Amino acid sequence: MTILPAGESASACGVRFTSNVPFAFMVLDYTPPSTRQHRNKVLSRERHFYQPKDGHRLAHNPFNAIVAPRPIGWVSTKSSKGQVNLAPYSFFNAFNYQPPIIGFSSIGFKDSVKNAQESGEFCWNLVSRSHAEAMNQTSATVPSDIDEFELAGLSKRESTIVGAPHVADCPVVMECKTTQIVQLQSAQGEKCETWLVLGEVVGVHILDSFIIDGVYQTAKAEPVMRGGGQADYFGISEANRFQLFRPKVD
Ligand SMILES: Cc1cc2nc3c(=O)[nH]c(=O)nc-3n(C[C@H](O)[C@H](O)[C@H](O)COP(=O)(O)O)c2cc1C
Repeated sequence: MTILPAGESASACGVRFTSNVPFAFMVLDYTPPSTRQHRNKVLSRERHFYQPKDGHRLAHNPFNAIVAPRPIGWVSTKSSKGQVNLAPYSFFNAFNYQPPIIGFSSIGFKDSVKNAQESGEFCWNLVSRSHAEAMNQTSATVPSDIDEFELAGLSKRESTIVGAPHVADCPVVMECKTTQIVQLQSAQGEKCETWLVLGEVVGVHILDSFIIDGVYQTAKAEPVMRGGGQADYFGISEANRFQLFRPKVD
């Protein structure tokens, strides 16, 4: 992508060459007209700028609504005493391909972190639309001796490799071994009361019906995504899928 100096509008022409690279490595940057017009309009608009340390000056903090929608890490764990736990974490994502590593971030040292540390294991359960309400129930702040599977009326299924059970009817489950627990810190080096739990995926269960011709069908699982505010969620559908192949430089 070409980076424009502040105040300069995008070229009216659809084809541009990046100029700061040797000719042999020039990248043709083509943008469809409708997208280009939209971007030109955006360049001339006013912006709301804030520094989080000074407050956002809006009715609601937009941070969660901007970095959204986020997949939900519905995490099941087992404590060293055998107490089972299940809770949703939307500060969740994948961080590595080989070995596959996923992680969730806990604001406060919550039971899921404690158990993932004690046992060295956790499971990720995919929240499909039919699980949304049950997932929400498992976010209730309850004492550690309460089994959220029972609280939300969910059946457990034994995992193959790890000790923590998983949600029996979830279309996809990943069994994980905890690799790191990192206490986050600010740019000034001050410790946050937030812990990022990372785990290597050591086992993956996928419902056969979600695999067609060897390809996992993302939309078929109807994953629920977390939006902003107190209660926003988004779904995804096959109709919203589009493909964009990465540029090839010969
Ligand atoms: C959709 C959703 C996403 C959530 N995401 C997070 C999160 O990313 N981090 C967090 O600390 N709490 C998050 N929560 C709140 C926790 O689920 C809640 O504090 C829960 O009680 C933690 O359970 P635990 O102590 O058994 O681990 C979320 C709640 C919901 C409903």
